[in-house]
Amino acid sequence: MLVLGIETSCDETAAAVLKDGTFLRSNVIASQDEIHSPFGGIVPELAGRSHVERIHLIIKKALKDAGAQLSDIDLIAATEGPGLVVSLLVGLNTAKALAYSLRIPVIGVNHLEGHVLAIFLQQKVAFPFLALIVSGGHTDLCRVNGFGKYQILGRTRDDAAGESFDKVAKMLGFGFPGGPVVEKKARQGNPQAQAFPRAWLEKDSLDFSFSGLKTSVRNTLHKRDNGNGSACSDEDIAAGFQEAVVDVLVQKALSACRQESLKRIVVTGGVAANGYLRDRMTETARKEGIEVFFPKPILCTDNAAMIACAGYYRSKHCQPSASDPFSLDAHPNLPF
Ligand code: KG4
Ligand code: ZN
Repeated sequence: MLVLGIETSCDETAAAVLKDGTFLRSNVIASQDEIHSPFGGIVPELAGRSHVERIHLIIKKALKDAGAQLSDIDLIAATEGPGLVVSLLVGLNTAKALAYSLRIPVIGVNHLEGHVLAIFLQQKVAFPFLALIVSGGHTDLCRVNGFGKYQILGRTRDDAAGESFDKVAKMLGFGFPGGPVVEKKARQGNPQAQAFPRAWLEKDSLDFSFSGLKTSVRNTLHKRDNGNGSACSDEDIAAGFQEAVVDVLVQKALSACRQESLKRIVVTGGVAANGYLRDRMTETARKEGIEVFFPKPILCTDNAAMIACAGYYRSKHCQPSASDPFSLDAHPNLPF
């Protein structure tokens, strides 16, 4: 079974071809970083316009790389939400039009389900497991009992982890997206030079909060730049900030495993590409006999392979949400 995956929920235009849910025949991702970088964040109208300009070229390239024709495709899977409505509509309408003309089914995929199932492109993970989804828009802890069987245990009450990386990078003048550059700068800094707060919230809470940490970084920078604070470097601030985010992500994930008696964690989403998080999570969980799985970095950040994968499993294990191409619609706040 050949699935064409299409992902345009935010600022990546992506298409992929997946055979039998396992063999990734192509995975094409066009980033819009250059377009949004001058603004220090994503400008929805520019994202939507860029998707329109590129989507057909990206699908063509995905088919070419896979050595396939449109007529070989059995199923199209496209992200229906959550995300930016102007972005989602481009991928979804393209998928609907293609499916209609080819007389094949189209499936709407929840972007977060795509992130969780990205790991299945590399290896099978036995159910149940804990998924920590850490991206630019989400920080969720989710119990995964099977395909299509998800139970949210905790989520951020304000900023997402990736969003806090992006905002701190902007304050430090590092550019956009912030995650990779904060990680790089943090390697040259001392995480102990400046202490930043961790929001643990109520006892046993599995929710997150990163807005206080962001404010603390802003205040530290303000004091330092006015000569009233410690003389820590930008690199020290990046390291101290990253340390605080990673501490909370690791401790809350382990706490969720204890509360739910889970022995496996899948960490996914753009922030899961962070090498320091990968090392700390793996090392700390090992001490508690918990196995940790990460998709490779290219499958952590937004891609269409994960959407094709989720579409494949949805078609095998779940009731189709809509098999009529015309009934699918974009849902910017689609719940998980
Ligand atoms: O999953 P993703 O590509 O898009 C969303 O669904 O949001 O995640 C993007 C987020 C951005 O906030 C970006 O700064 C962050 O992931 N990110 C990272 C790293 N690479 C990407 N954060 C920390 N360290 C990284 N290496
Ligand atoms: Zn994402």
